[in-house]
Amino acid sequence: IHNIVFKESNEASKIVAREIADLIEHKQSKKENCILGLATGSSPIRVYEELVRLHKEEGLSFKNVITFNLDEYYPMEKENEQSYHYFMHDHLFNHIDILPENIYIPRGDLKPDEILDFCIDYEKKIKNHGGLDFQLLGIGRTGHIGFNEPGSHNNSRTRLITLDYLTRTDAASDFLGLEKVPKRAITMGIGTVKEAKRIVLLAWGDNKASIIQETIEGTVSSQVPATYLQNHKNTTFILDEGAASMLT
Ligand code: F6R
Repeated sequence: IHNIVFKESNEASKIVAREIADLIEHKQSKKENCILGLATGSSPIRVYEELVRLHKEEGLSFKNVITFNLDEYYPMEKENEQSYHYFMHDHLFNHIDILPENIYIPRGDLKPDEILDFCIDYEKKIKNHGGLDFQLLGIGRTGHIGFNEPGSHNNSRTRLITLDYLTRTDAASDFLGLEKVPKRAITMGIGTVKEAKRIVLLAWGDNKASIIQETIEGTVSSQVPATYLQNHKNTTFILDEGAASMLT
């Protein structure tokens, strides 16, 4: 893992958005699609804001972009404001020229007996498009990436998982109460994420300092799934001073 520390997250987010825009334009010049893996949560909001600005003010087009989101709560309706489906449309998709048929997000509204087939198909779709060119990640305080909580296997694939208690308490304010936070989610696996050709993980603020320290300096372990990124050849952690404050 390679890490870069910025004074503040705004400036860092613009640099990440620029990297994504450059990749999209490079693929456009070769008449190829650009396959992006996307995250939700507070960390990538400014990156999406900047991508929207690049679209509106500098003509960046998303017509050749295909997106796969990491995860979605289960159960969850698309229309619910807490859904990741809603989040992605609100922060990005509604403001750019991406084709609706090129947007893939795990579905929180499946019947239990539809989940397995959906997950297998999600993996197949990523593969059929040639794999993820770029994966954007945040990190949870449990060390999760996507919703791969402690115990997740290095070779795990898209599946239904149970959220950790700490993850649910971190989401409680968004849901106006812990008891309203879904207990499960559908997430891409560690194996899915690690096949991306390029990975950029964002972490901002003091409350991420300890998990960032464990992830970068700790031994690789399923107890901190983000440590699996130590074995990926093209991963960069983009940190602000708060998140980097416990690194030695
Ligand atoms: C979201 C996701 C999660 C978040 C993580 C950090 O799609 O996969 O792993 O990235 O929980 O969330 P924030 O950015 O809100 O601190």
